[in-house]
Amino acid sequence: MVKVALLGASGGIGQPLSLLLKLSPYVSKLALYDIVDPQGISVDLSHINTTAECTSYSKDDLVDALRGSRVVVIPAGVPRKPGMTRDDLFKINAGIMRNLCECIVKTCPNATVLIISNPVNSLVPVAIETFKKNGIDGSNRIMGITTLDLVRAETFLGDYMNNSRVTTVGSNQFDKRRMHKVISVIGGHSGHTIVPIMLLKPMVYMMKPGQYDSLINRIQFGGDEVVKAKQGKGSATYSMAYSGYKFIEYILKSIQRESLEGLGYIPAYINFTKLTNGNDLSKKLNSNELEYFSIPINLTNGRIESIDTTILDKISEKEKEMVGKAIPELITNAKKGQRFIRNEA
Ligand code: NAD
Ligand code: LMR
Repeated sequence: MVKVALLGASGGIGQPLSLLLKLSPYVSKLALYDIVDPQGISVDLSHINTTAECTSYSKDDLVDALRGSRVVVIPAGVPRKPGMTRDDLFKINAGIMRNLCECIVKTCPNATVLIISNPVNSLVPVAIETFKKNGIDGSNRIMGITTLDLVRAETFLGDYMNNSRVTTVGSNQFDKRRMHKVISVIGGHSGHTIVPIMLLKPMVYMMKPGQYDSLINRIQFGGDEVVKAKQGKGSATYSMAYSGYKFIEYILKSIQRESLEGLGYIPAYINFTKLTNGNDLSKKLNSNELEYFSIPINLTNGRIESIDTTILDKISEKEKEMVGKAIPELITNAKKGQRFIRNEA
């Protein structure tokens, strides 16, 4: 049985994600933690007749929330307002991430830690460095969730295909006929670091002139669309809760030793340097300096067993160019997170 702790449960993402986790047959205990007391959410959810047992924790109760957790999900932190970049959130959210990870590494160091808070490109390094500072290598189980980019890619590509939906993410629950793998997204989670990869290359030739470029742009800057539409009241929450849940489900299925076949080609933003095939990725990306990248992963028992670099074997010249543009920004973003922890000592 699996205990999941959700840190930031009272927020825009935290609330719908709590509901999805309460509905999950893979969760036996759901610990909701937030500095804004999530007690009301927990009592409300506990009236739903599914198995997950909900409990709530606030402020100084973080250790109790985390104790015994197998999976920890973190959407805690501030979201963007119009005119801001994700990087503008670093100062506040890096401190929050460090404090939460200090407690995770002491309370449930073997848990799989899934990071939603932005900027993902820098906060995953903050989490990994915090573990490292406490003598633990968490690189096979600390991951940034980039599934929203994949969900957007499938949705927006579907718009160009006469509105038929392309459902690779969790496709076993949807239209089985569309289980072909059409598009994926690698790199990072901000602007030009978000690199869509067309797996079914002929799709590009089927598009009208300009459509492919506008599809790429929409996938890379989809977050801005929501921030603008919410007019200062935050960023994506429902689509993120859905995407986050799809990724968490992937992890939970792996913990239950269920087959992940047919679930798609799901990437996560990780430190790949010590993982199986990590060297292979450095070689394919032609960079010795890059340590973090969003890439499809193979899981065993909810942890990364190896990374799957085959996606890079089939990329076009244009996609190669996009990867080349993403790498320097990814290096800078990761260094910012690493420095935040390393300079503290
Ligand atoms: P929100 O402000 O609605 O909710 C954040 C919650 O975190 C709040 O309830 C707040 O009380 C809580 N919180 C703050 N500090 C905390 C702490 N120290 N411990 C526990 N809880 C704490 O924001 P949101 O819309 O839910 O977004 C949360 C984060 O997720 C933002 O940083 C946002 O940019 C990011 N996000 C990421 C993706 C992605 O694709 N990875 C998508 C959407 C949003
Ligand atoms: C998104 O892609 O929607 C999130 O990263 C939130 C944001 O700030 O855009």
